[in-house]
Amino acid sequence: MVVPYIISLLRIGSNDIGQLAVAEGESLPFAVKRAYWTFGVPSNKIRGHHAHYDLQQLIVAVHGSLEMTVETPDRVRHVFLLDRPDQALYIPRMCWREIKFSADAVLLCLASQEYAESDYIRSYYDFVKLVESKAPPTS
Ligand code: TYD
Repeated sequence: MVVPYIISLLRIGSNDIGQLAVAEGESLPFAVKRAYWTFGVPSNKIRGHHAHYDLQQLIVAVHGSLEMTVETPDRVRHVFLLDRPDQALYIPRMCWREIKFSADAVLLCLASQEYAESDYIRSYYDFVKLVESKAPPTS
């Protein structure tokens, strides 16, 4: 099973002139088709609450910090703190995510597919039913 993990992005620059970070090509786990960003989220609000059938994503906290909880199809919850603009979190397909934003956070998402509401699993109950129906038997 593919699990979520942090990718250190190529960083170019110095303290004198500032930095830029790069996400490109073969160093990424999928070809990026779309980018969007989320901002102005109140810090007590948790977003996400969904999984995707097919979409893969890279998430970057380009400003502020994000507490990302990612539940994999084996029902394990992985928690990551994203607080550096030169790190990305890879989220494989079929993972439930919940995201806590700091008040100043800007979340950049690089996505493997165009937006399709039909790719979302928005009910946690449905997510659990789906992953458990595909889980190998325990004995
Ligand atoms: P959603 O992916 O649920 O955001 P989050 O995980 O941050 O809570 O998207 C929020 C809303 O915006 C939802 O109604 C779908 C819509 N949306 C688009 O119309 N286009 C897009 O590219 C995205 C990502 C979302």
